Amino acid sequence: MTKRTILLHPDPRLKKTCAQVAEVNAKIGNLADDMLDTMYAAPGIGLAAPQVGVDARMLVMDCAAREEDDVETAQDPRVLINPVVTWTSEETNVYEEGCLSIPEIYADVTRPKQVRVSFLDQSGTSHEEEFDGLWATCVQHEIDHLDGRLFIDYLSSVKRTMITNKMKKLKKERGRVA
Ligand code: NI
Repeated sequence: MTKRTILLHPDPRLKKTCAQVAEVNAKIGNLADDMLDTMYAAPGIGLAAPQVGVDARMLVMDCAAREEDDVETAQDPRVLINPVVTWTSEETNVYEEGCLSIPEIYADVTRPKQVRVSFLDQSGTSHEEEFDGLWATCVQHEIDHLDGRLFIDYLSSVKRTMITNKMKKLKKERGRVA
């Protein structure tokens, strides 16, 4: 497994609608392993393929550690390929969200409290599963990435511009070209 470089906002690759995964093969399996490695190392609770520069509708997540407050024992790594939200609850939840592509920035985002999502796992088996609480927020945040949407897109344009300018400065400080 290899840790990959996480793209930082602003980057045109984070604003694209990603392509469907045509076939769940060994290459996709390797990508899933790399993405989980990269996510745990960051550390983070979710990561979408475009964040490592791959144009594919695929995400990984693990909110167990955060919920249990025990990174060592509570791992529950999940891989979702071609995820589609099939139902959302009326009830909403507010979480202070962050993003590995927008480090050190956090803001409250309101989303449906529960969602049902259909997807393929890394063996190509299809599932439909309901997510609640932090898992629901995380899966919606990551699916947004696959449509080129970032959590700061839910904020006012003034706030978004401020954050984007801050990020441009941070990228320059880190000597990052992408
Ligand atoms: Ni994110």
